Amino acid sequence: MADTVIQTRDLTKQFIKRRGLSSLRHPFEKQAITAVQGINLSVKRGEIFGLLGPNGAGKTTLTKMLCTLLLPTSGSATVNGFDLVKQQAKVKGSMALISSEERSFYWRLSGRQNLRFFAALYGLPRQQAEERISALLSQVGLTEAADRRFNQYSTGMKQRLGLARGLLANPDIFFMDEPTKGLDPLASHQTHEFVKQQLVAQGKTVVIATHQLVEAEEVCDRVGIMSGGVMVACGGVRELSGDASLSDYFLSLVEESEQEPG
Ligand SMILES: Nc1ncnc2c1ncn2[C@@H]1O[C@H](COP(=O)(O)OP(=O)(O)O)[C@@H](O)[C@H]1O
Ligand SMILES: [Mg+2]
Repeated sequence: MADTVIQTRDLTKQFIKRRGLSSLRHPFEKQAITAVQGINLSVKRGEIFGLLGPNGAGKTTLTKMLCTLLLPTSGSATVNGFDLVKQQAKVKGSMALISSEERSFYWRLSGRQNLRFFAALYGLPRQQAEERISALLSQVGLTEAADRRFNQYSTGMKQRLGLARGLLANPDIFFMDEPTKGLDPLASHQTHEFVKQQLVAQGKTVVIATHQLVEAEEVCDRVGIMSGGVMVACGGVRELSGDASLSDYFLSLVEESEQEPG
């Protein structure tokens, strides 16, 4: 269905970890960790979907698989109609990943120079790129700071430059991994407004991985609650929580999953 922009079938990721020398009896025994297990998920075009779960739930691993940064161990998925494994380049061309990691920017270049670099990487013609970069810097509120060095930016400004870079190639799908990590309440609010007003208004699909209930409640249309690599519940924010608040519901799920042996 064209309306479904992300569809996964039993998507699973295992990491193999060597026990190392700390385990004296079996020093080189390998241990498999299932970070994401049997995820069946579908996200519709234009939707803001939240992956909600505590630390270690598997949100980043699932996000990285959907961005082709990690290969699934088993299962399959389509992103924008393209097969996640067989059509990796097409999947990559359909999406942008915005994470709170800022390692991918050049610290000694200005915000504008950084965007120029990425525009060249995406193959945008020079003149078109200049106009687009100025428009994007203004859209994310960085016009004044555009020519300051990246290493002088605040956390919020770095995060907004990440948004501008994501928009540069104009992809259909945005993945945001903990987008407001380290931001103050005002900057978080501005990010949420940006997602709701700018991205969704342009018909983009947004998948937000977060451990913050408030964030999910504030921006998402639907959420999938993850715990221990498994999606334990999925639905509309209001639908899921029923009469109780989503937070009570979420906390009860997390407690339940922590009580299970394993
Ligand atoms: N590269 C890796 N090697 C081994 N284990 C990993 C690796 N990446 C993540 N994990 C494990 O997978 C689980 C899920 O991690 P992650 O996807 O980062 O969760 P979240 O983003 O929800 O906090 C955790 O138990 C984590 O320790
Ligand atoms: Mg994470």
